[in-house]
This record gives sequence, structure tokens and C-alpha cells, in this order.
Amino acid sequence: MSILLPLPDETATAALAEEVAAVLAPGDLVTLSGDLGAGKTAFARALIRHLAGADQEVPSPTFTLVQVYDTAVGPIWHFDLYRLTAADEVLELGWDEARQGIILVEWADRLGPMMPSDRLDVALDFGATPDSRVARLTGFGTWAGPGDGDAPSARLALSGDAQA
Ligand SMILES: Nc1ncnc2c1ncn2[C@@H]1O[C@H](COP(=O)(O)OP(=O)(O)OP(=O)(O)O)[C@@H](O)[C@H]1O
Ligand SMILES: [Mg+2]
Repeated sequence: MSILLPLPDETATAALAEEVAAVLAPGDLVTLSGDLGAGKTAFARALIRHLAGADQEVPSPTFTLVQVYDTAVGPIWHFDLYRLTAADEVLELGWDEARQGIILVEWADRLGPMMPSDRLDVALDFGATPDSRVARLTGFGTWAGPGDGDAPSARLALSGDAQA
């Protein structure tokens, strides 16, 4: 079960990221899906700044593959696995330690069989105008909604168009 949310501009993307940030706790995993330039890093940046402070610099982890931030709710690990060549390479990036904290992952499909079963996926798609996007939120495992027509998780009180 997914929920679709229109994001008319980047401010709307940031607002959604802040709503997600507010319900995250250590051990949570959010995967960010979507094509190059869809806004995965923009979403992660707003989410991290909500928890680490508005002045926090949040570079894209395109080349470092991971950046870690200390926040009031513990460490947030921001991965970009686009350049990962084998799933278990993520272990060298500190994956096991990261699982104790909050994880945000761009290009999480690179995890293959290592993909955890409990996660919130935020998929961003391009909209009708250059600055618009559509977010599709899907909960898996403990993030799955309680029933048809519900948001991905009872933890997130979002309203949008429910989609099977
Ligand atoms: N509504 C929107 N939400 C998010 N980003 C937007 C929006 N409108 C415009 N943008 C712009 O789109 C770009 C998104 O780039 P971003 O680096 O976040 O993409 P990405 O999905 O992380 O790409 P990559 O796969 O290369 O990591 C930014 O330049 C951002 O300013
Ligand atoms: Mg990115």
C-alpha cells in the first residue's frame, strides 16, 4: 500500500521530509528512490537539517558514499550507493553500526539481498512542471500500514491519494 503526495515545489518536498524526520527513531531505515535529479538528496538534506540544525551542511554523498550526522535523536547515516559495485561493500562503509541509528539511503536497490525488510520507501517522480514532483510513500514490514487505504504507517499521519 502506497500513498501519493503531490509536491508542487522544493518547499513542499522539504515539508514532507520534515514530517518524516519527526517520526524517526534509532533503528529506522528510509530508502529514497527515483531517477537522477528527482530530489532524493534534496529530501535527505531537509530531513537531516530538521534534526541536526538548519545550518548543517549536507553534501551529496555521491563520492564519499556515506556521510554521518550527530543529531538530537542520535546519528543519521546518509548513504548514496549509486557507485557501489557489490552489495557487501556496504559493510566496509559501516552498515552494521549504521543500523543502530537512523539510515537514509539513495539507490538502495544496490543492497540487493541485503535490503532490510522493515523500511519506509519515499519514491520521487518528476511532475508536470520543472519544480514539481510526486512522492509515493510505501511502508514495508513494520512500516506497512494497518489496512487498505491507509498511509504507509500509523506513525505517519499523512493524507494523500491511497494507491494499491
Ligand atoms: N519539488 C522539488 N523537490 C526536490 N528537488 C527539486 C524540486 N524542484 C526542483 N528541485 C531540484 O531538483 C534537483 C534535485 O537534485 P538532487 O541532487 O536532490 O537529486 P537526486 O535524486 O539526489 O539525484 P542523484 O540520483 O543524482 O543523487 C535539485 O537541483 C533541486 O533544487
Ligand atoms: Mg542524490
